[in-house]
Amino acid sequence: MQTTKSSVEEELFQVRKLELSDINKGFVDLLQQLTVCGSISDEAFEERFQDLAKYGDDHVICVIEDNNSGKIIATGSVFIEKKFIRNCGKVGHIEDVVVDSSVRGKQLGKKIVGFLSDHAKAMGCYKFILDCSLENKPFYERCGFKPKEVQMVKYFV
Ligand SMILES: CC(C)(COP(=O)(O)OP(=O)(O)OC[C@H]1O[C@@H](n2cnc3c(N)ncnc32)[C@H](O)[C@@H]1OP(=O)(O)O)[C@@H](O)C(=O)NCCC(=O)NCCS
Repeated sequence: MQTTKSSVEEELFQVRKLELSDINKGFVDLLQQLTVCGSISDEAFEERFQDLAKYGDDHVICVIEDNNSGKIIATGSVFIEKKFIRNCGKVGHIEDVVVDSSVRGKQLGKKIVGFLSDHAKAMGCYKFILDCSLENKPFYERCGFKPKEVQMVKYFV
């Protein structure tokens, strides 16, 4: 079978769920490219990882590992909110999408969002929502989102 560049990249850049050992593969460094993350000890990472694992499919963090370098180069998460409205409907919230600055523009962000979107749909969500900067609006539009209403925030720290 002929191996094309895209099939090699497809093989190299597969989306999977976060694993505990990803702390040693630059996962936290990648999050630092998104926002303030701070350094996280192995103990704190494991504690949070186990806490989140209790939510099962209602909270999923996915990653792309570069199989050549063994580094985590993209990530994103989805939280499934259970509601009473809409006949006890569910809403998927997408959070913390980031692609390593060295590999942006290679469709990896879109791949992460696609994985999270498929998950939200499979979980029975009637919609999938997110907050983003104006700068990232075109990216999410390319991923199939459209603007709706306004974002409000109140910080406690
Ligand atoms: C936003 C981000 C995740 C995009 O990831 P990426 O892998 O570079 O994006 P992709 O290559 O998958 O781009 C998908 C499409 O969006 C377009 N796109 C991506 N970023 C864009 C931008 N800033 N402006 C306009 N279009 C953009 C691409 O051209 C591509 O278009 P196409 O479908 O026509 O080919 C990445 O730039 C990033 O990590 N930024 C810093 C962290 C961040 O801001 N995260 C978002 C938090 S809400």
